[in-house]
Amino acid sequence: MLTIAMPKGRIFSEAVELLRKSGYKLPDEFDESRKLILTVPEENIRFILAKPMDVGTYVEHGVADVGIAGKDVMMEEERDVFEVLDLKISKCHLAVAGLPDTKMNDIAPKVATKYPNVASKYFREQGEQVEIIHLNGSIELAPLIGLADRIVDIVSTGRTLKENGLVEFEHIADITSRLIVNPVSYRMKDKPIDMLVERLAKTVEEGKEDSD
Ligand code: PRP
Repeated sequence: MLTIAMPKGRIFSEAVELLRKSGYKLPDEFDESRKLILTVPEENIRFILAKPMDVGTYVEHGVADVGIAGKDVMMEEERDVFEVLDLKISKCHLAVAGLPDTKMNDIAPKVATKYPNVASKYFREQGEQVEIIHLNGSIELAPLIGLADRIVDIVSTGRTLKENGLVEFEHIADITSRLIVNPVSYRMKDKPIDMLVERLAKTVEEGKEDSD
């Protein structure tokens, strides 16, 4: 049986749709259930539902053979896993944002983010020394109440920035979800994993043609 780690939250429904389009018969229960382990015996697959930031942990430790994880998460936490396919879902980007017409504080500028490693690396490469403030969510709040000069966060529709009066200053990286695989599983369960990759790759390719 193949164990797949799925990210709960906004990527989940897109990932389920992609699997269904690829021919996997997933029960309706998937759309409403609060269960954290969902088994589909007909497909010989077990899904575990994890927080997006934790998917890599389950796959790296081998308790899940494969997982679906955002590129943002993979950039933040370098994991000993294979990234085998760009699923081209949950498209968004990582950006530097803040209040309009504000300069970064010259002395000890502060950057709030859920992605401390990505943010540190980015500002280091820009030759800027900043203090990173690690938050777990609602990052857009930080500049509004004076906790930080800038934020590094995901921008999807741009609504959160707009509705909070913030603007984007720099584009860091385009983000999509990826299929990741545990290296040992790839050796031991190569057939079902290859089949999954092939089926998903075909759907991704078809989706690309549709949007061309
Ligand atoms: C993400 C991200 C932004 C928002 C961007 O947060 O951190 O806050 O979505 O989306 P938008 O551009 O479409 O408005 P999420 O909803 O995952 O919650 P969080 O604040 O807990 O991180």
